[in-house]
Amino acid sequence: MDMKSVFPEKIIRYCSLLFISLFLVPFADASQTGGEIKVWMPISLNDREVYTPAPKPQPRINGPLVYGCRQRNPFLYRIPCQGERPIQFSVKNLPAGLNLDSSTGIITGNTPPKGEYNLTIKAVNSKGKDQRKLKIVSGEKLALTPPMGWNHWYAHYDRITDKMVREAADFMISSGMADAGYQYINIDDCWANAPKASDSLRVGPLRDDKGNINTNIYFPDMLGLTNYIHSKGLKAGIYSSPGPLTCAGFTGAYQHEEQDARQFASWGFDFLKYDWCSYFGIHKDDNSLEAYQKPMRQMGSILKSLDRDIVFNLCQYGRADVWKWGGEVGGNSWRTGDDLGFELDRVFDVAIRNTKYRQYSKPGEWNDPDYIQIGWIGNAHGMGAPELTKMLPSMQYAYMSLWSLIASPLIYSGDMSKLDAFTINVLCNSEVIEVNQDILGECGLVIQKADSSFIMIKNLADGSKAVGLFNRGKNIAEVEVDWTELKISGKHAVRDLWHQKNLGAYKQKFRAQVPAQGVVMVKISRKQN
Ligand code: GLA
Repeated sequence: MDMKSVFPEKIIRYCSLLFISLFLVPFADASQTGGEIKVWMPISLNDREVYTPAPKPQPRINGPLVYGCRQRNPFLYRIPCQGERPIQFSVKNLPAGLNLDSSTGIITGNTPPKGEYNLTIKAVNSKGKDQRKLKIVSGEKLALTPPMGWNHWYAHYDRITDKMVREAADFMISSGMADAGYQYINIDDCWANAPKASDSLRVGPLRDDKGNINTNIYFPDMLGLTNYIHSKGLKAGIYSSPGPLTCAGFTGAYQHEEQDARQFASWGFDFLKYDWCSYFGIHKDDNSLEAYQKPMRQMGSILKSLDRDIVFNLCQYGRADVWKWGGEVGGNSWRTGDDLGFELDRVFDVAIRNTKYRQYSKPGEWNDPDYIQIGWIGNAHGMGAPELTKMLPSMQYAYMSLWSLIASPLIYSGDMSKLDAFTINVLCNSEVIEVNQDILGECGLVIQKADSSFIMIKNLADGSKAVGLFNRGKNIAEVEVDWTELKISGKHAVRDLWHQKNLGAYKQKFRAQVPAQGVVMVKISRKQN
């Protein structure tokens, strides 16, 4: 049947135009149509959908582009590299005093004299090859990019043992987390003795007759433990308090600061979390800035005097605007608030609050909003055994995106023995991690949109911008970023970081459908990806 005989031609033309403008234009590439908006809906709300493509069989070298260390101290760096093993590693311009194990990619030795060393790392396997630059800066500052690792607290609380820590190191390697850049295996509270504890095996003399701090029975051989962690190319962290007792009531460093710090170094630790807690009782009503700074400054300078690189993490919950002086007293990072464990539903608020201190975030000095708690985590209120998080999958993507955009340390605090494919995909997306590890060290800037949505913009060293489009609402929402907000103009390439996919070129804005309590995270750059 001839359509024209049924519908007048004008009506047919009108209907086709309506069809094209309603359905096709929004999905077309903005640069081809000359339009400016593309509605993009790549994310389904399916539970625990894995967005991160599996690592390819060919090598992909990850890790920071810059690495800080102090001259002549022991050096340890495991080249993070995805791809099928065996992989053969080589390094061009490796300074004298450093040695590479070409099959593991672990570099050891002693840090060279002060200066900058520009290395090129190469990785080859039967499927392909990759190379990446790494600048070693032998100077004063450590943690030139945010520390990445694991901490036992939110998984194991006061149940932690030497065995669990060793297993965490094993899982760090076998899960692929180390290949994505995670390095530190950090013990939190409860490794020392306590005057009283629910587990009587953790009760005992706090120090020996020379004043050396005692470990409890679950940590019979600290040096053996760090040797084990180091043998895998990973680093080890420990925990203490400037007060007489830690938060969970175990021995603190009060009046033994130097002795304990030397002990930690001789045990081979590479990271110290220093947790205020019972020090509240020491400085009592003295709320002066100096009183807040005193114990942190003291430990900061002790650590600097040791012949070991120990990253210093201040934990005093953001008191006295620590972000303003944490770096000056020797801190590499500082907690900006109370335990996130008790405010997990507030990850959006906590991240936004951290952006208020964005000017203090810089290489070697990081705002720390607390750990990444996804996967199997211990019940925060009851310090219970690990259970699968009830956090919406979309919010877990948002959580990791926020921590990356604000340049927070990426410390996972869940049960490593229960890592599943979904959790690994959230933790190990190498392009999202690259945003976190960017060498500018910038903390993102928030632009509030509608009540329940906002964008976060982070400038990257290569001139591009990482942008998170966040939706805090209970329903899917459209969120857009306009080029004026990014201070750019003209055609730019947009890449979806969670899916690691190029989305095409856009002229004035990018708009996306963002899942409830979720994120769409993109990288926007001048050149085509
Ligand atoms: C405090 C800290 C936590 C954890 C516990 C250990 O609450 O903020 O991160 O270290 O102490 O007792």
